[in-house]
Amino acid sequence: MDKPLVVVTRKIPEAGLKLLEEKFQVKVYARDGSMKPEELKKFVKGAQAILALLNDKVDESILAAAGLQLKIVANYAVGYDNIDLAAAKKRKIIITNTPGVLTEAVAEHSIALMMAAARRVVESDKFTRAGRYEGWEPELLLGYELQGKTLGIMGLGRIGGRVAEIAAKGFGMKIIYYDNGNSNKEMNTALGAEAVSVRKLLTASDFISIHVPLTAQTKHLIGKREFESMNKNAILVNTSRGPVIDEKALAFALAKKIIAGAGIDVFEFEPKITRELLKLENLVMTPHTASATVEARNAMAELAAKNIIAVLGGRAPLTPVK
Ligand code: DGY
Repeated sequence: MDKPLVVVTRKIPEAGLKLLEEKFQVKVYARDGSMKPEELKKFVKGAQAILALLNDKVDESILAAAGLQLKIVANYAVGYDNIDLAAAKKRKIIITNTPGVLTEAVAEHSIALMMAAARRVVESDKFTRAGRYEGWEPELLLGYELQGKTLGIMGLGRIGGRVAEIAAKGFGMKIIYYDNGNSNKEMNTALGAEAVSVRKLLTASDFISIHVPLTAQTKHLIGKREFESMNKNAILVNTSRGPVIDEKALAFALAKKIIAGAGIDVFEFEPKITRELLKLENLVMTPHTASATVEARNAMAELAAKNIIAVLGGRAPLTPVK
């Protein structure tokens, strides 16, 4: 009997591919960049499992193109806003993601962006390379310290919680958070954190870090009005999903110094970047690489592969999306 077909929409770390290749017929998309819908439809035809990336839009048309034998879509990401869950449910297709294994990588990257923006690391690097350093100056490229400042966390899940922990324990930051109106007793006790309203978070924070999933409710969670409520010295960090922030409003807030700076890893229209962002010196950008550590990407590959192995072996997935 032929081995089940597993399609992998981009080359992922060997750790995961090897697990799949031991058991299945595996087809890996060989080129760079994401596939156009028509190409993706052809690519998934006949698969029992699809290992998809966050930039593959897996909707009803893709699931239908795969065929009735499709059992699982294993997303190579913790976020799964690229997948039409209702369409998958109707077809009884299991969806899995990769929670937990990238928490540390994304949390550390959020702190890195916070520090890079606060201490103007990228701007200083450009300044130095341009040969503009002419001697020590008392007020050259002044930034802000994290120590003792207030960090507002939007979304206190695994990643938001780890950012809170690093910030409180490492920098003595005061943590306030908004988590759907919930209060997290454990965090309150362990870190002296405090659940607050969105309004209080926006007005009282020196740093704001976003860790919410992208849903209809969180799209443009931060827009013109929210920027206007923020502290003039505030630094905004986003490693969640781009559309959570209205990018035009972000560009305006940074250009007009309504807030002091920002560090963003995700973009509203990625991979396209809103043009106005490119010339801003008080903005640090990374190309959706918050989880890009060897440790996290290997573990994500293994977890996605193990989810496929479990489901095609007739067992329950390790990390289903409910
Ligand atoms: C995810 O897994 O959803 C992250 O965005 C990857 O960086």
